[in-house]
Amino acid sequence: MMFNLFENEELKNEALAEAERLRKELRHHEYLYYVKDAPEITDAEYDRLMVRLREIEAEYPEDVPADSPTQRVGGKVSPEFTEVKHLTPLLSLGNAFSAEELRAFDERVRNGLPAGSSVEYVMEPKIDGLACSLVYENGKLVRAATRGDGVVGENVTANVRTIRAIPLTLTVPEGGEVPELLDVRGEVYMPRHEFMRLNEERAEKGEAEFANPRNAAAGSLRQLDPQVTAKRSLSFFAYNVGNGALEKHSDSLAMLKGYGFKVSENYKVVPDIEAAIKFIEEFDAKRSSLAYDTDGAVIKVNAVYQQRILGATGKDPRWAIAFKFPPEQAETTLEDIVWRVGRTGVLTPTAVLTPVKLSGSVVSRATLHNEDFIREKGICIGDRVIINKAGEIIPEVLRVVEGKRTGEEVPVVIPIECPECGWKVERQGSEAAIRCTNPHCPALGREGLIHFVSRDAMNIEGCGPSVINQLIDSELVRDAADLYSLNKEDLLKLERMGEKSADNLLKAIEASKENELDKLLFGLGIRHVGAKVARILAEEFGTVEKLMAAEHEQLAAIRDIGGKIAESVVTWLSVPSNIDLLERLAKAGLKMEFATRATSEGNPFFGKTLVFTGTLPTLGRAEAQTMAQDVGAKVSGSVSKKTDYVIAGAEAGSKLEKATKLGVTVIDEATFLQMLKE
Ligand code: IVH
Repeated sequence: MMFNLFENEELKNEALAEAERLRKELRHHEYLYYVKDAPEITDAEYDRLMVRLREIEAEYPEDVPADSPTQRVGGKVSPEFTEVKHLTPLLSLGNAFSAEELRAFDERVRNGLPAGSSVEYVMEPKIDGLACSLVYENGKLVRAATRGDGVVGENVTANVRTIRAIPLTLTVPEGGEVPELLDVRGEVYMPRHEFMRLNEERAEKGEAEFANPRNAAAGSLRQLDPQVTAKRSLSFFAYNVGNGALEKHSDSLAMLKGYGFKVSENYKVVPDIEAAIKFIEEFDAKRSSLAYDTDGAVIKVNAVYQQRILGATGKDPRWAIAFKFPPEQAETTLEDIVWRVGRTGVLTPTAVLTPVKLSGSVVSRATLHNEDFIREKGICIGDRVIINKAGEIIPEVLRVVEGKRTGEEVPVVIPIECPECGWKVERQGSEAAIRCTNPHCPALGREGLIHFVSRDAMNIEGCGPSVINQLIDSELVRDAADLYSLNKEDLLKLERMGEKSADNLLKAIEASKENELDKLLFGLGIRHVGAKVARILAEEFGTVEKLMAAEHEQLAAIRDIGGKIAESVVTWLSVPSNIDLLERLAKAGLKMEFATRATSEGNPFFGKTLVFTGTLPTLGRAEAQTMAQDVGAKVSGSVSKKTDYVIAGAEAGSKLEKATKLGVTVIDEATFLQMLKE
């Protein structure tokens, strides 16, 4: 009895120590991925570490710390946001629109300081998101609030905890002190690619799209259900410190960086206002290439004692100002509207415009999103319209210039038939989207093929939309499998297809056969199966046959899959023409497997249960476990009759004893490494 108690205690300690190591490792990888943008492990590897940590935490739920990476999404759905009084007000910023106004600001600053003071400025991008205050007590995030009216904001702690660029615990360098109180201010924002992805997804579902990344960020943060926020991939740039600032603002920024925050890589300390103006010019030239939206630059007095002397007028500090770039807009004529059918049958209206220059490029098309958008804006054909770059990427019709109407404008006719196949279109329930009802609409095939060859799917270079269109029009290709029976002669019949391009295209088609299963699954365009879900399915099942044999419940039980996706996969895989397509793809020589699993089946650890104990001479515990899981082994925390192998290192304790008692095979690290290769 005594022995058992002791053994349990030891097991527990070992498990808790492992959990802590995993947390450290996961935090490190989150930092590399979300803050540094430089991941060192794959998503699958990250997921495995997470699964292992969840396993241990499920066994010892009373020992799960609030800042564990598993605890990011744990908050409950609340009926409303509570109010929070900020420790010190969150100020806003005055605006400047020209170099002259910036020089006037500099003069006001110098006039407000003792004569002869030299003033250094810090220049930062003005991120287009929403301001947030994050309060850390003894290094732990205890509260997050939106700006609100500057004095009182909304408590959004549960939602902010889901943002992985925000540390739940500050990283304090060894020997450094954990600050008792730190109030970090910054901008919650949505990266551009995420904004585009989200809008695409919403359009597919027939939901209203967000007008720009700022609205999308605000809409995602102000969600009563943190689970929704968690799915939106928000990020955060820290740009100010409320309580706990250092003597210079630039030092505070460096300190924030050290604590594990994302600080804009584009900030700069400048010696005077002329250098500040130069920074703005240089920044304007590069801001369109950033991964996030900016609407200006912020100029701040660097010395905090000077900031104190200057103070604030109302809500705006006298020591900082925002330089706003002019909105990128242009006026042109809307000549026509074309309705394009997407790969899920949704009809999207696009405005055909008289070409006009907008932020450095000539624009002749703009998105109109859906029928509701056209009605809300009261758009007619022939209207003069103002266009801008929503999210600074895709042009969008902002409004109609009603004063310029001539009476010749023609109201927009919403199609009742599919422009591709003539079938009836319909609007389902409250959906904003109209869809073609023909399951065999040629647009589905064409758009599906464009998706199949796209970069994140099968990545067949040299096979752009115009090649696909020609292949379909010339009846050389009907579906994805036909691509694999193309020959050079066929390709040479296409317009602008020379010998060399034809050779290259054939090579690219051939090479795509070697793609892993996840690329193929994504490329098939199964509804709700995005790149990430495809990867999960490929990892989970390893081969197409196994996926085809999976039942709804089995699929729905997989993390991140759920009922809706499971339903969609099962349905897709039960359609005879889809099964036929998969068979023809297999026959064409596509790999149809996921390598790590496929090559693992012959491995001695495949499907076996392993337990690690003691300190291994070269491998870290998590590393060794990942390697085992990579070849299809299950890793467990305790030894039982079901254990197949115990891998024991130095100072292995009770687990080793138990293994010996139960007659479980015990191996050392060298043997483990050797067997992994088999
Ligand atoms: S400093 C006292 N720095 O702009 C200074 N604000 O128009 C307060 N913003 O409410 C703000 N990027 O949401 C600062 N680098 C930056 C910023 C920034 C974006 C936002 C912030 C603020 C708004 C004022």
